[in-house]
Amino acid sequence: MTDECGRTIDYLRLSVTDLCNYRCRYCMPAEGIAKRDHREMLSIEALAEIGQAAVHCGVKKIRLTGGEPLVRRGLLELCRLLRAIPELEELCLTTNGALLPQLARPLREAGVDRLNISLDTLRPDRFAAMTRLGRLEDVAAGISAAEAAGFSHLKLDTVLIGGFNDDEIGDFLALTQAHPWEVRFIELMPMGPCAAWEKSCFLSAETVLERYPALQQIEPQGVARRFRLPGAKGTVGLISPVSHEFCGQCSRIRVTADGRLKGCLHSAEELSLRGLHGEALEAAIRRGILQKPRRHHLAEGPSGTPRTMNQIGG
Ligand code: 5AD
Ligand code: SF4
Repeated sequence: MTDECGRTIDYLRLSVTDLCNYRCRYCMPAEGIAKRDHREMLSIEALAEIGQAAVHCGVKKIRLTGGEPLVRRGLLELCRLLRAIPELEELCLTTNGALLPQLARPLREAGVDRLNISLDTLRPDRFAAMTRLGRLEDVAAGISAAEAAGFSHLKLDTVLIGGFNDDEIGDFLALTQAHPWEVRFIELMPMGPCAAWEKSCFLSAETVLERYPALQQIEPQGVARRFRLPGAKGTVGLISPVSHEFCGQCSRIRVTADGRLKGCLHSAEELSLRGLHGEALEAAIRRGILQKPRRHHLAEGPSGTPRTMNQIGG
């Protein structure tokens, strides 16, 4: 269905947990977040019911997010329930990749069509420092496991951070020459812990084009502008929520793991779906879509949401 601004909304990002096995410095505080009573979080049945209702409201693509979705108990069952919805065209999942060695194949068998894997650096020491708890070798093994399980066209999501990984842009581009992957550079958004970081950390995705003029533009996909190095097997995506606001083309709604519908990542507006079923649930989702905020205000200051990224799902 369309919202009040005439945008077609057909993409749901459904967060299955706010917990994560990493503590990326821009996303989470070092001590993690307090584990909430599981009764405050949506059950697997409730998540599936929301997915079904959203599809009835016109959603064609669902992406499971977190926190880290692979730490959620019952995730595979949820994937099977969602995959069984006939009108759902695509079931995707965004993960930090650490648990893919064990879970890539079961996820494929449960019906997940596509994976995005977050990867901010290719240097083991930096990876450990940024994620506080992660090991690069686990993610590398996770990427191999995903390919072995039959996930093709993997997307690797790299948050571009000035003074941290901007000297690795060339190394990431080299990956696209050797592999049929899409490396996507995402601008760091000022929310949660990183909202207080120095200005120099926030780079425009244009930096990639300025430093690598050989990149040739190809057709865009969703909100990503896309490029390819001559002769490369893979592609490069630029996602610029800060420097090139794309709210006018935004097709998504989000549901948090505690059952709040958010029309915009950066708005404090939320609509509770908890305890709603059937017609009432669908009516609430329709209301949330209609009232989707027109745009965010990141160019003017920090994000308007009091939540951190792991509490929304990116
Ligand atoms: N800005 C941009 N991307 C972010 N992510 C988490 N926090 C931010 C932020 N402040 C990314 C993660 C992952 C995805 C789920 O969201 O790195 O790729
Ligand atoms: Fe976990 Fe992703 Fe946040 Fe890192 S960015 S702490 S992997 S939710």
